[in-house]
Amino acid sequence: MEYHIRQYGLQQGALEIQYIEEFFGEFPRRKTSAEVIARLQHRDHQIVMAEAALPDDAATVVPVAFKVSHELRETESDPELMDLVQRLGGCVKFSGRRVLYSWIGGTRRDWRGQGFFRALTEQQEAWALDNGFDEVVVKTKNKSYGMRGTLDHLEFDVLHFEPNPEDRRESKVYLSKRLGRAVLDQHRSRRDVVNVR
Ligand SMILES: CC(C)(COP(=O)(O)OP(=O)(O)OC[C@H]1O[C@@H](n2cnc3c(N)ncnc32)[C@H](O)[C@@H]1OP(=O)(O)O)[C@@H](O)C(=O)NCCC(=O)NCCS
Repeated sequence: MEYHIRQYGLQQGALEIQYIEEFFGEFPRRKTSAEVIARLQHRDHQIVMAEAALPDDAATVVPVAFKVSHELRETESDPELMDLVQRLGGCVKFSGRRVLYSWIGGTRRDWRGQGFFRALTEQQEAWALDNGFDEVVVKTKNKSYGMRGTLDHLEFDVLHFEPNPEDRRESKVYLSKRLGRAVLDQHRSRRDVVNVR
C-alpha cells in the first residue's frame, strides 16, 4: 500500500489541523488554527496529514491522520514550552543539538490499524533528518494505552516518567527517538508526498 501524504505550510496546515481534530472525540481540548499558528510560527515545524478514500465511497478522499511537530529549544519564552524543557532537562541534551517535539497527532477511528501513523512518523523522521534534527521527543499519558503501544512499535524509548499521585492514569510519560541513517533504513512505508504551501 502507498500512503498519500500532504506536507502543509503553516496557514493552510493550521486550518486542516483544526478540521481533522474535530473527529477526535477523545481529545479533551482540541486545537484551533490560531493556537497552531501561535505555537509554530517562529520555529521550524512540520505539519503532515495522510489522506485516504472513504470506506464506502472510493472516489471521495479525506484526511485520516495527522502529525504536527516543532523545534524545541533550550531557551523558550512560551511558559508551556519552558515547562516542558525543564521537565526534559535531565534527560535530553539540547546544547549543540536540534530537538524536534512531536506535539500532536492521531488517526481517525475508522482508519486505525492500517499503518497511517507509522507512515506519518516515518515521513516526520525523514524530514527531521533532512533538516538537521538529532532527536524526536514526545509526551503522552499513562492512560493513552493505544498511543503508548504505538510508540513502542515505532521504537521510541522511555526517557522519563512523571507520576501523578492523585490519579496514576494521568501520570506523564516522556519518550524519544535518536535520529540517524539507521532509523531511515528501518522504514517500511511507501509514501507519496505532496507539498502544499
Ligand atoms: C495511537 C494512534 C495514533 C495509532 O494510529 P494508527 O494509524 O492506528 O497506527 P498504525 O496503524 O500506523 O500503527 C503503527 C504501529 O503501532 C501499533 N499499534 C497501533 N495501535 C496500537 C494500539 N492501540 N496498541 C498497541 N499497538 C498499536 C501497530 O500494530 C503498528 O505496529 P507495526 O507497524 O509494528 O505493525 C491512533 O490509534 C490514535 O489516534 N489514537 C488516539 C490518539 C490518542 O490516544 N492520543 C492521546 C494523546 S497522546
